[in-house]
Amino acid sequence: LGNGLALTPPMGWNDWNAYGCNVSESLVKQTADKIVSSGLAAAGYQYVNIDDCWMQHSRDASGNLQPDYGKFPSGISGTAAYVHSKGLKIGIYEDAGTQTCAGYPGSLGHEAQDARLFASWGIDYLKYDNCYNNGSSTTEQYIARYSAMRDALAATGRPIVYSICEWGVNAPWTWAPNVGNLWRTTGDIQANFNSVLNIFRQNVGLAAYAGPGAWNDPDMLEVGNGMSATEDRAHFSLWAEMAAPLLAGNNLVTASATTLSILGNRDVIAVDQDSLGKQGRMVSSSGGLDVLAKPLSNGDVSVVLFNETGSTATISTTAAAIGKSGATSYGLKDLWSGSTSTTSGTISASVPGHGVVMYRVSGGTTGDPGGGDSTTVLR
Ligand code: DGJ
Repeated sequence: LGNGLALTPPMGWNDWNAYGCNVSESLVKQTADKIVSSGLAAAGYQYVNIDDCWMQHSRDASGNLQPDYGKFPSGISGTAAYVHSKGLKIGIYEDAGTQTCAGYPGSLGHEAQDARLFASWGIDYLKYDNCYNNGSSTTEQYIARYSAMRDALAATGRPIVYSICEWGVNAPWTWAPNVGNLWRTTGDIQANFNSVLNIFRQNVGLAAYAGPGAWNDPDMLEVGNGMSATEDRAHFSLWAEMAAPLLAGNNLVTASATTLSILGNRDVIAVDQDSLGKQGRMVSSSGGLDVLAKPLSNGDVSVVLFNETGSTATISTTAAAIGKSGATSYGLKDLWSGSTSTTSGTISASVPGHGVVMYRVSGGTTGDPGGGDSTTVLR
């Protein structure tokens, strides 16, 4: 969406994956504090996003949405002021239907009033869900419902990132680049390797549709929610390689040092946040051993060697296959160990089951790995 926002994929945190409906002002404030004190804010995490269940079951006499003051004693505006005082931004959740998924009032038919209210509270990011959508089923109906909120947000004059949470139905990547800053490409993620793998497979082929201001959204992170550290590193690397939003979905207040170091890996974050804004592509995949390549703005290429299988395997590719040519030696930086090496062309590593090895490759010149974009999206 050409609103000048999300020129790199949004980074931050959302309560849903770890807390479901148990969201509250104190959770949001404690999490904002931890994002700053842990160094995650300095690493790029910016949005503190409230998901479903923040409001009362009815609008007030003027038709305004009402915060649940039991959960948010200072309201959303007071909570937003606190988050802003920490140098962070705040996001909220609504639904393009008659009710949210958890049964609170939806925004369908109230778009302008609700957008004005969000702007008056200081909201910086809206996740807009798809439940109770009045039986709308055609692509035109989807575009109409989601465009109504896009236009309502624009009319407020406040910069608000617009996240379309439409679970991949009606192939949002074909129309949402003009409507939102990001769009969900799949159903809900869960904190297990099969779910991450499934979502990865659905999202990885959609590179042609992504770019600055408009991102495929394979859902929020499950790092720190129960997978092994190897699996968490793979999940985080794949999301960065696919230029996905990096929205932590775990309890940050009690997160382990390992979890915080995975979420805080600045070399991997730099791949996600690269200003070229290209989503990585699969350059080869055979027997569950995948090679992905993502061209970066300084001419480097980020490579992920991903082992989908349950046992350690060697994964190999070449400089030519990832789009590099013209040098007798290329530099390799291992983005998880930090070690550096050189190669005359072969890029190869032993990769644990469910794990990755991720390199930043430098030197020579860079073409477009996996072929050029075959799809043009109007923005
Ligand atoms: C469905 C979305 O996909 C989830 O991420 C979450 O927002 C829930 N709805 C909330 O009800």
